[in-house]
Amino acid sequence: MGCMIVAAAVQMEPVFGQPQHNLQTAVDLIEAGPPANLYVLPELFHCGYVFTSQEEAAALAEPVDGPTVSALQEVSAQRQCTIFAGFAERADQTIYNSSVLIDQGQVLGTYRKIHLFDKETLWFTPGSAPPPVYQTSSGRLGLMICFDWIFPETARSLMLNGAQILCHSANLVLQWCQKATVIRCVENHVFTVLANRIGTESRGGDTLTFTGASTIVDPKGQVQAAAPETEAAVISAQIDPALADDKTIGPSKINNLLHDRKPDLYFQP
Ligand code: ACM
Repeated sequence: MGCMIVAAAVQMEPVFGQPQHNLQTAVDLIEAGPPANLYVLPELFHCGYVFTSQEEAAALAEPVDGPTVSALQEVSAQRQCTIFAGFAERADQTIYNSSVLIDQGQVLGTYRKIHLFDKETLWFTPGSAPPPVYQTSSGRLGLMICFDWIFPETARSLMLNGAQILCHSANLVLQWCQKATVIRCVENHVFTVLANRIGTESRGGDTLTFTGASTIVDPKGQVQAAAPETEAAVISAQIDPALADDKTIGPSKINNLLHDRKPDLYFQP
């Protein structure tokens, strides 16, 4: 047994192009919900999703020391908590679909989405660094963003790097991720906190509906908390991140998800 923490997913409906409003919505949800050690917010939570041009993405993107991340740092410092949130990042002249990890007021790092989905490929530059794992006051957190889920290598490499909890910021439009999350948790024996958004965005001739149903899943694939598909909500669960360190599986605990792998026998380019 390790230290129990409360992990929470903040499910909300960002309004396109309204960063102050969206920030306030997120803060209001956090303040109205049960106190938690770890909050995961959706992908691009401050700006919305359906862009119509690179210029629009650039105009809404912020540097990591910009107003959205600074405001989250204040919340994190006040509540002495960990926050993981997706935001559009401007670094020099490059625009990324990024996320930031803040612990007790300090920015620990960012992760820039490596698997861009659909028209994101038109607005954003993919990240070139692996999804990272950070030691935090809420355990060892592995960072991923939305479509990263469909490549099981993402969750696997986070687990191999020691992640106990996968923090997954999402704007999901396909219907499979919540189910796949259960399997990712079982095959890697990790927790996942999946924060998805809700609502429909229609812009520039494109209409996307986001699937909500944020979820917190434990290493045995048990759903510890689940949000509705169409309403804003903060869901939370008390969890022991150290449970993810035990990779044994099966009645006799003979098998071990880490040690029984056969990397030499898997496809190698
Ligand atoms: C997605 O990656 N936003 C589906």
